[in-house]
Amino acid sequence: MAGWLDEIEPLKQTALAELNSAPDAAALERAKGAWLGPHGRFTALMKQLGSLPKEERPAAGKAINAAKAELEAALAARREALEQLAAMPKHPTDFTLPGRRRALGRLHPLTQVIEDIVRAFRKIGFAVADGPEIEDEYHCFDALNTPADHPARDTQDTFYVDAPPNAPHPRFPTSTNRWLLRTHTSSVQIRVMQSQPPPVRIIVPGRVFRRDNADATHNPTFHQVEGLYVDRGVTVGDLKGTVEFVFKEIMGRDVRIRFRPHYFSYTEPSYEIDFSNPLVKKMGRDWLEIAGCGMVNPVVFENVGYDPEVWTGWAFGFGVERIAMLRYGINDIRLFYENDVRFLRQF
Ligand code: DAH
Repeated sequence: MAGWLDEIEPLKQTALAELNSAPDAAALERAKGAWLGPHGRFTALMKQLGSLPKEERPAAGKAINAAKAELEAALAARREALEQLAAMPKHPTDFTLPGRRRALGRLHPLTQVIEDIVRAFRKIGFAVADGPEIEDEYHCFDALNTPADHPARDTQDTFYVDAPPNAPHPRFPTSTNRWLLRTHTSSVQIRVMQSQPPPVRIIVPGRVFRRDNADATHNPTFHQVEGLYVDRGVTVGDLKGTVEFVFKEIMGRDVRIRFRPHYFSYTEPSYEIDFSNPLVKKMGRDWLEIAGCGMVNPVVFENVGYDPEVWTGWAFGFGVERIAMLRYGINDIRLFYENDVRFLRQF
């Protein structure tokens, strides 16, 4: 019966070749059926064992089982290889192709303008200060010499809110002590002066809130940059020179500045700053109002514990949107807040 055993090895080789070269899962399953399935060749061999002489059966059974084990292993290996093949992309990657460019974001035009203003002020020794957007009435108004019955409050009597969680409860005897979204960055003047002795040289970029209806030039949320300079012997000349320097830095050499008398309760005297450049002329205007400013009112110094006989100072507040609109020729303030990339991409 040696001839019968001799047939196993070539049969196994044929089966292995078929399994290893099965082009896809279906072909592999067919090959498995043909060789190892209930009606497969090796199953048939197993069944024939019974017809062998008793003494030959163990050796033949062992040989068949060894061959079957080898085929099972080949089947599993091929199955895994085919699965990996199926998971691969149909079209091979071409690593010589240029990379996919990842779109880089950019800074919002308002951020760019704020950064330019900050950079200009840093050149002349100003530091950036910060304060809370949810503010108490005392810092926003009373300490700035604007008591509750002051008419200057009317335009800013605005978004009152409940006290923020964990807020210290302010109890200023002269104030009604409510909380609100700050209407200007001037509140930070008070906070800074309360927290440090003079001299002071700060600018405060920040977001402010007013009950304005949105139109082409107004929005209930906008941005300001506040400035405060306190030292001995400070004059309006310092103020004017500084403002002119900064506007030339951020808007170009052909800028002109004009001070027009105005009223703010926290400065005395007070001015509005008018601005002119070729773009303003193109808009058919000579001047555009762009900021408020003045010499710090001695009452404000008294409120923060600075001696008004020793210390003098000036302060100003710019609207950032105004400057950005002038700089980029934007005619509607609302464009800044829509986050339309077609708009933002241009800056
Ligand atoms: N707080 C004023 C406003 O929001 C702007 C302003 C005017 C700020 C005069 C100042 C100042 O510091 O001195 O309209």
